[in-house]
Amino acid sequence: MRIVFVATVLVLSAAIAVAVEGMDWAYPPTPKGKGPPDKEKMLTVPGSKRQYTAAQIGDGFNPPDWFPDEHPPMPAAVATGRPPAYRACALCHLPTGGGHPESANIAGLPVRYLIRAMEEYKNDNRVGLRATTMIEIAKAMTDEEIRISSEYYAALKPQSRQKVVESATAPKSFVGGGGMRYAEPEGGTEPIGSRIIIIPDSAEGAQRRNPKSNFVAYVPPGSIANGMQLAAGTAGKTVACGICHGPTLKGLGEVPGIAGRDPTYTFRQLYDMQQGRRKGDAIALMTAVVEKLTIDDMIALSAYAASLEP
Ligand code: HEC
Ligand code: HEC
Repeated sequence: MRIVFVATVLVLSAAIAVAVEGMDWAYPPTPKGKGPPDKEKMLTVPGSKRQYTAAQIGDGFNPPDWFPDEHPPMPAAVATGRPPAYRACALCHLPTGGGHPESANIAGLPVRYLIRAMEEYKNDNRVGLRATTMIEIAKAMTDEEIRISSEYYAALKPQSRQKVVESATAPKSFVGGGGMRYAEPEGGTEPIGSRIIIIPDSAEGAQRRNPKSNFVAYVPPGSIANGMQLAAGTAGKTVACGICHGPTLKGLGEVPGIAGRDPTYTFRQLYDMQQGRRKGDAIALMTAVVEKLTIDDMIALSAYAASLEP
């Protein structure tokens, strides 16, 4: 029994390692850490009257709500999930929907799109390399819970959590708590290469799930202009994004907005689509869009879209 278990784990981790080789900037592994040293100390964030311990901040069934007056009342699925079946959406997407680089910014997306996204996870049509958590959650939810949580996030104001900075170098960084990337404490920089490196303005703010704590997204020089050209469809490589995502890329009807969203999330989706890891009738419209894109093209498009007003 034990031998079978060990063998399965090895096969799984080998598959993931091959698939994301050199791409942990877009598909961060979840690190095995000891967690914060003092789990019971009361923590705060600027401007909030609330206090939580690190243990409470990491509670999947009752994550922190630092600014309860700044969003509508959360339905149970969002605030607590349904223990033990699935965890609260607010743990990863936050009560404001802004999320973190390793999850997704879902605030203000069209409700029909959000519901469809959950159905695609449920039906094994969306098997991206960072989709495992969402597949488990979507499969555990009832249609009613999916509808209510989608309506909640669709009603929120779209927001952008990152400033996009073109730079030949990025801070030296590592993947830490919550699958997020943090600057190395001893500082230093390294060549950016073909990567997008997202660093929180405040490591503490990100770890405490403060929805007002933002990020800097370092992207290779020239990415924004290259992305703008590709997005216009003039490069002969892809289709103009605005036809379906709206002229300002803020979304059109049921087609989700891509403006101002996290660039590593956007990159992951383009790459997952090219790899055939997102399927379904609606996503078929993206097939011709991603077919000929190189990794650098996807980085450029993601950087450009992220630099726009949400
Ligand atoms: C433990 C963390 C976690 C929790 C809890 C969680 N999500 Fe997610 N969610 C993710 C990650 C990670 C992704 C990105 C997956 C990817 O890159 O493909 C994601 C993606 C999504 C997307 C896709 C967004 C898009 O633009 O297509 C939707 C919709 C979504 N989540 C809804 C929810 C809802 C609703 C809940 C609560 C019932 C929830 N999530 C709970 C981590 C989480
Ligand atoms: C012919 C229409 C069409 C064009 C052109 C198009 N898209 Fe899309 N795109 C869609 C649709 C429809 C979806 C949502 C599919 C679904 O509901 O599952 C989508 C989804 C996406 C997503 C996933 C969003 C998310 O929240 O997960 C990204 C990223 C994206 N498109 C980027 C682009 C970029 C970049 C371009 C231009 C280079 C582009 N699209 C051009 C129709 C289009």
